[in-house]
Amino acid sequence: MNVLFIGDIVGSVGRAAVKKVLPALRSKYNPHIIIANGENAAAGRGITAAIVKELLDAGVHGITMGNHTWDNKDIFEWIDDEPKLVRPANFPEGAPGRGAAIIKANGKELGIINLQGRTFLPPIDCPFRAADELIEQMREKTACILVDFHAEATSEKIALGWHLDGRASLVVGTHTHVQTNDDRILPGGTAYLTDVGMCGPRDGVLGMERTAVIHKFQTQLPVRFVVDEGDWHFHAVLVEIDESTGKAKRTQKIRMTETDLMMM
Ligand SMILES: [Fe+2]
Ligand SMILES: [Fe+2]
Repeated sequence: MNVLFIGDIVGSVGRAAVKKVLPALRSKYNPHIIIANGENAAAGRGITAAIVKELLDAGVHGITMGNHTWDNKDIFEWIDDEPKLVRPANFPEGAPGRGAAIIKANGKELGIINLQGRTFLPPIDCPFRAADELIEQMREKTACILVDFHAEATSEKIALGWHLDGRASLVVGTHTHVQTNDDRILPGGTAYLTDVGMCGPRDGVLGMERTAVIHKFQTQLPVRFVVDEGDWHFHAVLVEIDESTGKAKRTQKIRMTETDLMMM
């Protein structure tokens, strides 16, 4: 089974890029299941019900979230009814929504788990303990498991990758919006990448319009950030999983610009 995971989709530019890129990636790589991080899909802040539908219509089969999960307050009205969207499982007990789901598409099945780091991010429950519990439950249903660890610190992400080696098919990081160059398959068979990157405006700062960000760094004054416009870049990772064992067989980073798409 081929799984495509897309890094944080940022705003309308990112959503438009997903729609443009997916047909080309589908014919080139034949991904059976496509998962995307959608925490910045609504103008950089959270996600709406309409955008969930837009991404699912574009061919995404499951959506993970992160620290921006609750930015769009309308999410409280529908998250419990959306089985294809997961938010960090280690949010305090009683939080709306779910932290794990089983996604079915093209005759394949993939368990997805979303976790959030707690180094340089608000303190929440232990992601390692939450991962242990959820993976144990999920492995009764499927050996093919994706973990999106939404975290700031590379060390915390690498540590979780090792902690889950042999128990998850792939552990991918999100949140920094910058693709790292450390993709590998760990000895136990878990594909690992510290950060997948993002899908959205290329010439801003992590997708935000850059002059406002530069101004904030220079003045330390409160500044309103807006999602940038213009050219996009698209970052994802493709992992081939042996369905009988749940182990990764092959992993490949994808990093594309508009020009790359035109040349495909
Ligand atoms: Fe993000
Ligand atoms: Fe984030």
